[in-house]
Formats: sequence, structure tokens, C-alpha cells
Amino acid sequence: SVLEMEVEQIKKGNYDHFMQKEIHEQPHSLTTTMRGRLRDNDVVLGGLKVHLKTIRHSRRIIFIGCGTSYNAALAARPFLEELSGIPVAMELASDLLDRQGPIYREDTAVFVSQSGETADTLLALEYALENGALCVGITNTVGSTLARKTHCGVHINAGCEIGVASTKAYTSQIVVMVMVALAIGADKISTQSKRDAIINALHDLPNQVSEVLKLDSEMKDLAESLIETQSLLVFGRGYNYATALEGALKVKEVALMHSEGMLAGEMKHGPLALVDETLPIIVIATRDACFSKQQSVIQQLHARKGRLIVMCSNGDVSSVCPSGSCRVIEVPQVADCLQPVINIVPLQLLAYHLTVLRGYDVDQPRNLAKSVTTQ
Ligand code: AGP
Repeated sequence: SVLEMEVEQIKKGNYDHFMQKEIHEQPHSLTTTMRGRLRDNDVVLGGLKVHLKTIRHSRRIIFIGCGTSYNAALAARPFLEELSGIPVAMELASDLLDRQGPIYREDTAVFVSQSGETADTLLALEYALENGALCVGITNTVGSTLARKTHCGVHINAGCEIGVASTKAYTSQIVVMVMVALAIGADKISTQSKRDAIINALHDLPNQVSEVLKLDSEMKDLAESLIETQSLLVFGRGYNYATALEGALKVKEVALMHSEGMLAGEMKHGPLALVDETLPIIVIATRDACFSKQQSVIQQLHARKGRLIVMCSNGDVSSVCPSGSCRVIEVPQVADCLQPVINIVPLQLLAYHLTVLRGYDVDQPRNLAKSVTTQ
């Protein structure tokens, strides 16, 4: 009805679409996610406190989710492994159910879901509860089934997300899981200085996200150059393997363009055969421990005349693209475990602009629902 349409427009404020609004809202949503939880050199997560000891003693932590929520967990995994020393396994909820994979009483199962109502995730939760694991929920929806059925958990507090494509929930989920890792690792003196540095970096993260949002018109420009392409690859590794998967998911989900996120370390084992002068490839090569490996990936793609779009840290253009022949996206450098929060933003913007330019529905992509409540 006309009234419903007007209410919609009021909710969107100055933006044309909810996805656009939610992308630009991220400095604020990240602030609310962290509010009241960061102390000087400590993280306080009320819903987890009494269970931290049990979690520290678990023999494995398993992240379980679907789609973007799975990707967020994948982004946080390296940091959780580093701080806890506990093996962290990743499970797509549907695959865990298909395999009836083993879960034990000594496991901590962490369920990640924006809506808290995703059928596969809830069925995996039932399965993990039956098997006696400690079940932790990470959700954006207070009172959701996930929040009620888990033993304990953390709310994402990103604010209501309306666009079917998850954007602000993704970045807030990563920050929640980084905070969970900080809380689990808080008993170790050996990592105290690392933890202090990350807590400081968290305080500054919303400002850095505001910075990277300034790439909006540059990303629109890039989208214009990609309107007609059939396919887009995204190569990442380490902390930013998740960024590659999530960037590609956004592009396929809303812009309805074939896109694949790939682990750069697997490039030579197959994907390299796809490289030619026409297929655009985004390579994520911001500064971290994997930087020199990504430099050599770029060299190899360049040698095969790949059509490269490189994402690098501010000031690194000549280190990632000595020939000057690739397109570059420069982003602010932050602490390695928080870099995925920065790096996804230009890709969200790219997916958004590609969708508008290609004339597709941004907030309600065809065939998709905001929460997938059937199996
Ligand atoms: C994200 O853009 C997708 N719409 C989808 O992958 C989503 O993340 C997935 O269905 C999981 O939803 P949830 O976080 O509400 O459980």
C-alpha cells in the first residue's frame, strides 16, 4: 500500500535502499556492538562470563553457521586459535547435518546467526545439544530461538538489519567474535600485550570504517567498469580468506553476477587455468603475515595477463603493482585480526553499485529470503 511504501521510505532516511543505509551505518553499528564491553585492558561479556572456564577447557571449538554468518566466523577463526590455542573447526550447518559429524561433550559449539531463526543452524544446535556440547549463541536478535535454546551467548547489537544481503551484521559479528577470543584468552600473560593492542584498535575501528566508506564513488566507478562481465573472482588468504568468500557472496547474491571467493593458496591447484585478459580478479593484499605470499600471487597472475584489481594498504600501490597496470583499491591498515572488517566494506559498496547499475532489486534479491526458516 501507499502507506507502507511511505513508512519504508522514512525508515531508509536519506538512502535509496536498506542495504546502502546499512553499509553506511557501520561506524555506528560497530560502536553499539562494543558499547559497555571494552574496559582499559579487558573485555566484559556478561552472557559468557561464568562459562569462560569451561570453554578454556574444551578440546575443540566449533563454529557453526550459514552464508554470511559462517564467513564472519571464518574471519575470526585465526585470532581465536592464536589467543586460545584450542583447535577451531568450521562447520556449515547443513553440511554438519548431512554428515552427522561427530560432536562431543568436550566441545564448545558456537552458533552464529543474524536472525537467530535459520532452520539449518537451529537443527545443528539441536544436534549439538543432544551430543552434550556446550552451546554458545551469537545472534543479532534478542529473544530469537537461537538466543533461547543455547546455554549462553553474546548479542551482536548491530541494530535491526532489513536488507536481505547481510552487511552491518557481518562486521559486528566479526567484532563480537574477536571480543569472545579476547575474553577466552584473558587468562594468558603471554598474550597480554597483543590483547591490549587489539582492544586499543577496537576503540579506533569505527573511525577507520568511516575512512574506508569514503571509497564509495570509487567503488561506483569500478562497478561501472564491471557491469557487463560474466564472472568475478576474489582471491584472499589468512585473515582475509573470509573477505574473499563474503565479497563474492555479496556480488552473486544481489548483483546476480557469477562470483567466487577463492583461497589464494589454492590458485595453482586449478583456478589459475581460468586466468585470461578478460576475467576480472580481485586480489586482497593488505599488510599482514601473508603479504609477501600475496605479492607473488599477483606476480603470477600478472605474468598470465590477468585483469587485476588489487586491494592493498594505504601507500602500498607500488609494492603490489610495480608495473602500474592493475586497478588498485587502497584501504586503511588496522590490526591484522580487524582488517577483514575494513576490507569487506569496499566489496559491499561494489556489490551494491553493481546491483543498482545492472537494474536489479537491491533489498529483495530474486529467490532469496532474509531468514531461511525452512530446510
Ligand atoms: C547473507 O547476505 C545472506 N542473505 C545469507 O547467506 C545469510 O547470511 C544466511 O542465510 C544466514 O542467516 P542468519 O545469519 O540469519 O542465520
